[in-house]
Amino acid sequence: MQFTDRVAIVTGAGGGLGRAYALELARRGARVIVNDPGGARDGAGGSGAADAVVAEIAAAGGTALADHGSVTDMDAMAAMAALALDRFGRIDILINNAGILRDRSFANMTPADFDAVVAVHLTGTANATRAVWGTMRAQGYGRILMTASSSGLFGNFGQANYGAAKLGIVGLARTLHLEGAKYDIRVNTLAPTAGTRMTQDILPEQAFAALTPESVVPAAVFLVSENAPAGAIVGAGAGVFQSAYVTLTPGIRLSGDTLSAEGVAAHWAAITDRHGEIVPGSGAEQALSILRQLG
Ligand code: NAI
Repeated sequence: MQFTDRVAIVTGAGGGLGRAYALELARRGARVIVNDPGGARDGAGGSGAADAVVAEIAAAGGTALADHGSVTDMDAMAAMAALALDRFGRIDILINNAGILRDRSFANMTPADFDAVVAVHLTGTANATRAVWGTMRAQGYGRILMTASSSGLFGNFGQANYGAAKLGIVGLARTLHLEGAKYDIRVNTLAPTAGTRMTQDILPEQAFAALTPESVVPAAVFLVSENAPAGAIVGAGAGVFQSAYVTLTPGIRLSGDTLSAEGVAAHWAAITDRHGEIVPGSGAEQALSILRQLG
């Protein structure tokens, strides 16, 4: 799988998973914008983390440029896209990977902790995507990888802010998958599990060692390649690759006296029976599945 002549932007690529994605894309011939302001795990401060990754890529014979803009700043994201176009002439790939953590139980989570995490993950993903969307539409080609998390898909204690933002990203990805299809913009979502600074005090030591960022990279690279699928939600960690779905049971239609809270309670087993469940391709498909039951 070669990326010669392709231009990729990876946000939050100064360390962890983003660094590993940037190194591998560059190794396969892509010219890469390594975005990262280089702050701490909670987003505070800044450093030259992006420059160090650019130097690593250059030392390995690849081509990369650093960008220190924050994904929370739309103007900075527009400048990042302009840098890619100015220096490399196109933008084929965006990996939205930037992230911070401010874990606390919901009872102890301040509104500021909630907003900061949503700003980086959800709004930041929308900002970086908005910055490249017009270019990808105009050139009739784009590959965008979103980064969700098991916390968003399934919930995780102490991560109400993070989980909300991460499932928000899935909704964004599903919609952009539909809107981008006719321009050959393929939007996929990755829910990684990796030993990085984000998880070093969460994962047991042995699991941390097995869950290398490099073992997630093959999924990311495939999902931004020319023959990538579209609209997929992929789990990846330690070389295990999975696919996640949002499903819908057939349900039942209640009427007359049963169209009541008591009726829902009485039919709960039928409503939640998973036999014949579907994976709607869009919100409209759920509406259609309801209308079909009108008889
Ligand atoms: P990491 O902390 O090593 O990497 C995140 C990078 O994002 C850092 O280099 C950081 O400087 C950068 N960043 C933070 N705020 C930014 C901003 N405003 N603008 C641009 N860059 C910013 O952590 P890791 O694990 O590599 O995380 C990468 C992505 O994967 C994140 O979105 C994270 O939520 C997600 N993820 C990671 C999991 C894991 O097991 N490591 C699990 C599920 C999701």
